[in-house]
Amino acid sequence: MPAGNDRAVGIDDLSVYVPRLFLPLAGEFSTNRGIDPGKLIKGIGIERMAVPDAHEDAATMAAMSLLDLMRRARLRPEGIGKIYVGTESALDEAKAMGTYVIGMLEKIYGKGSFQECSTVEFKAACIGTTFALESLSYWVALEEEGKVGIVIASDVARYPLRSSGEYTQGAGSVALLVKKNPRLLALEQIYGSFTRDENDFFRPVGCTTAIVNGKHSNQCYLDAMQGAFDSFAAKAVRKGAITPDAGECITDFIDHLLFHIPYPRMVEYASAAIFRHDWRQSRNCSEIEQELGREPNAREYEDLGKYQAAEADYARRFAKSKHFLQAFVAKVRNTATFSRQIGNIYTGSIYLGLASLLETEKIHAGERLCFGAYGSGCSALVFSAIVQQQAGSVPLRGLVKRLQERRQISLQDYEKLHEGKMEKSVVMPCKEFALARIDHQGYRHYEYVE
Ligand code: HMG
Repeated sequence: MPAGNDRAVGIDDLSVYVPRLFLPLAGEFSTNRGIDPGKLIKGIGIERMAVPDAHEDAATMAAMSLLDLMRRARLRPEGIGKIYVGTESALDEAKAMGTYVIGMLEKIYGKGSFQECSTVEFKAACIGTTFALESLSYWVALEEEGKVGIVIASDVARYPLRSSGEYTQGAGSVALLVKKNPRLLALEQIYGSFTRDENDFFRPVGCTTAIVNGKHSNQCYLDAMQGAFDSFAAKAVRKGAITPDAGECITDFIDHLLFHIPYPRMVEYASAAIFRHDWRQSRNCSEIEQELGREPNAREYEDLGKYQAAEADYARRFAKSKHFLQAFVAKVRNTATFSRQIGNIYTGSIYLGLASLLETEKIHAGERLCFGAYGSGCSALVFSAIVQQQAGSVPLRGLVKRLQERRQISLQDYEKLHEGKMEKSVVMPCKEFALARIDHQGYRHYEYVE
């Protein structure tokens, strides 16, 4: 197990930026949209949607999370070798978002201070940041001058007004410090992957909002997650990282499971699917059978419709079973706490899940975290990391308090911001990066407002 040594590479620290504005989903929004608030709060799992102000975009949010990370970890620009940005909220078809981010950071650290740092943008819907992390970790492992790497996720999740995706929107950025001998998590470098061409969610060039086939996207997520989990399990066993005895299963060796969080209920669906799949052939299977009876077998049904109905009924009962709920509460539930207050932040949402776990629960040295990243289109990557001895020494981020201190906005202001029709910021920028103007060529000018 890579713990506390120079060969270990992983996440040393992370920082989260969330806009100061939010719209509660129960109230003006649910009434105006004619949706029962119970559906939004319980059925979808989101209470508040984070909304970027008029001076914010994916680049300012990325710069804010990076600035906070640099201050927390006392990083100097010269010590950073690469900044990889995962985003699907690109501001330019050619120019890398990281160059805007570096431009902003140089307003604090001095012109030219990031000159030797390279930056590239990763696009693969919500999984872009995870592919960036995987690539960067290999670079860090080979780096010989003591430089560190940064991965930033930054997105504004935007669907058409009044669409069924609207109430899953959110915005935010997460910056990860990736280095040798990390204090928080050492990557085991075991990646299980799954890729398939799908039309579940995409945003053709020129569109400002995503096109989504909602129910289909849920199914793509589940299929891809299961495929990537199987790929991960086989590799982990081949590599000798996980060695199950008879009756044991892979999730017995996982202490916390973190999934991509488009909305918190999706994490429940994913957990139920993965535990159910993994528990087959294990000793958990007989306990589940005692509680729920045998699961439906397609070969025993002549009528496909009847089999599908029996399967749906079994899946519903499984998700409410004592056995599953115990595992869910112990290993998954707390990862979605912040997403309830923020919504989908696309490619950063799985790392928002990590922040949520760190701020709401104590993790212990030697524990294994397993990440299930998903990106529409579609790909999934399942990988693992081991909690390091020094994890407890990394200061918390006070995110619960920061989320409570945000400003509630009206439905009217939210709609104006959504449509890009708000001329002035709702809250004037203060101690933050702000988009000052976009010039006649389309170049974006940013400033740091004291
Ligand atoms: P929908 O039609 O709004 O919701 O679609 P629904 O009718 O399926 O209901 C959802 C749940 O609410 C159900 O629970 C209902 O019963 C329950 P379940 O039966 O499954 O347990 N419900 C209620 N509960 C309490 N009180 C009530 C009530 N009424 C109903 N009164 C959907 C939901 C997610 C499809 C939609 O919001 C959508 O299209 N969202 C955008 C796409 C999305 O998030 N997809 C997720 C998978 S794809 C992904 O994760 C990638 C992504 O992040 C992008 C990327 O990769 O870049 C999106």
